[in-house]
This record gives sequence, C-alpha cells and structure tokens, in this order.
Amino acid sequence: MARAGEIVADVMKALQDVITEGATTRELEQFADERIRRLGGKSAFKGYRGYPASICTSVNEVIVHGIPSSRKLKDGDIISVDIGVYYEGFFGDAAYTFSVGDVDPETSKLLRVTEEALFLGIGMAVEGNRLYDISHAIQEHVEKHGFSVVRTFVGHGIGRQLHEEPQVPNFGAAGQGPRLRQGMTLAIEPMVNAGTFDVRILDDGWTAVTQDGKRSAHFEHTIVVMPDVARILTNLS
Ligand code: MF3
Ligand code: CO
Repeated sequence: MARAGEIVADVMKALQDVITEGATTRELEQFADERIRRLGGKSAFKGYRGYPASICTSVNEVIVHGIPSSRKLKDGDIISVDIGVYYEGFFGDAAYTFSVGDVDPETSKLLRVTEEALFLGIGMAVEGNRLYDISHAIQEHVEKHGFSVVRTFVGHGIGRQLHEEPQVPNFGAAGQGPRLRQGMTLAIEPMVNAGTFDVRILDDGWTAVTQDGKRSAHFEHTIVVMPDVARILTNLS
C-alpha cells in the first residue's frame, strides 16, 4: 500500500506542471496514465463499474467523477484531480484541487478550507478515537466557514480493494461509530461545495455537479491509523 500511495503522490505532483491554461483534461489523463504505468502501477479507476478513464478530472462546478475530455482549462478555473493506483495487490487513492492561473478570493478560500478540513480529519484518525470523530472534524470546519459538505459521496476503507468497509462520511456526530485501531487504512476525502450540498448526475452517468452551479473542491489522502498520528501514504511533500 505504501508503494501504491507513493505512485499516486508522484503522479499528482507531476501533474502540477501539466495543469496550465489551454491544456485539455484529456492531456492530463494521458500524462497520468503513462506515468502510472511507467512506475509499475495500473489505474484503479479504469473499468471500475464501467468508469471510462484512468483518472477523474472535475472542473469548477463538477464535484467528482469528471471524465477527461477535450475541455480546455481556462485562467481562473479549478480542477480536482482524483487518482487511484493498483500496485501488486494493493490500492492507493488521493485527490487534490488545483488552481489554474489566478482564482478569485472566494475560490481560494474554498480550496484552503477543504484542504484544512482533510487534515483536521486525518488528525482524528488515531487509535482509540471513533470513526465519526473524523467526519465531525471535517464537517465542523467546513460549515464554520459557510461552505457545505457533500452527502452523496463518502470516503472509504481501502487496501486489497479500492473500496472497502467502512464508509467514511464527511459529516457526523463526534464520539460515534466504530473504534479506530492501529493499521486500519482509510481514504478520507471531503468534497466541499461553495453553495448547497445538493448533487446532480449528468447523462453520462458519472459526472457529479453541484445543483446550484457553484464551485466544489475535493482533497483526499490514503492514511493508516496509528497510535499518535496517522501515517499518510499519499503524502505530497
Ligand atoms: N476517489 C473516488 C473514490 O474513491 C474516485 C472513484 S472514481 C471511480 O470513490 F471511477 F473509480 F469510480
Ligand atoms: Co476515494
């Protein structure tokens, strides 16, 4: 799992240079798929329940599961890139929302708050806490700043499968849920909308957009529950 996570992180970091004004999301897809393979991995998403691409590229009001296309990135856009890798029997999964050029202040606050919420959630992923301590920390931070957490999609256990039990919601009551134990591996992934949390799925059956058309951000890491501080397997630094 550590190697799968390293590959995810390597590709995410390399994408930074490819995400420029005028690039198409399909170019990001091709770059990422080639790099995943060169590192000895395989996309975890391609073919998963019929998903047609190797990564997800979700621009502006797209929350998750945006399918790479001929769409060109514009100055001021945001793009959430979600990468899942299979490596020698194990999975890693992460997402990061990039800015294209200069974004407006409300958008940069949305990105900052969503990433902070992810790290506050990860901070609760220690032995002895309860699962929804993670969920609660994320929800509280997001709502304190006037944004909303998506309910329709949640984080998940991860390991020999991309999606394992338990589900990891980004909302919930502190002190509730299963007790966290050392060695549990979770994908924690807040999706945060600037407006309401309502979701609409486009006719392609995948692309999830905000119902109000406002923007959405998505940050995700694969982590291991530890006694004092969680280990992040998809660390970007
Ligand atoms: N990170 C998302 C998840 O864990 C991405 C899934 S894309 C899919 O559910 F194609 F695999 F569905
Ligand atoms: Co995930």
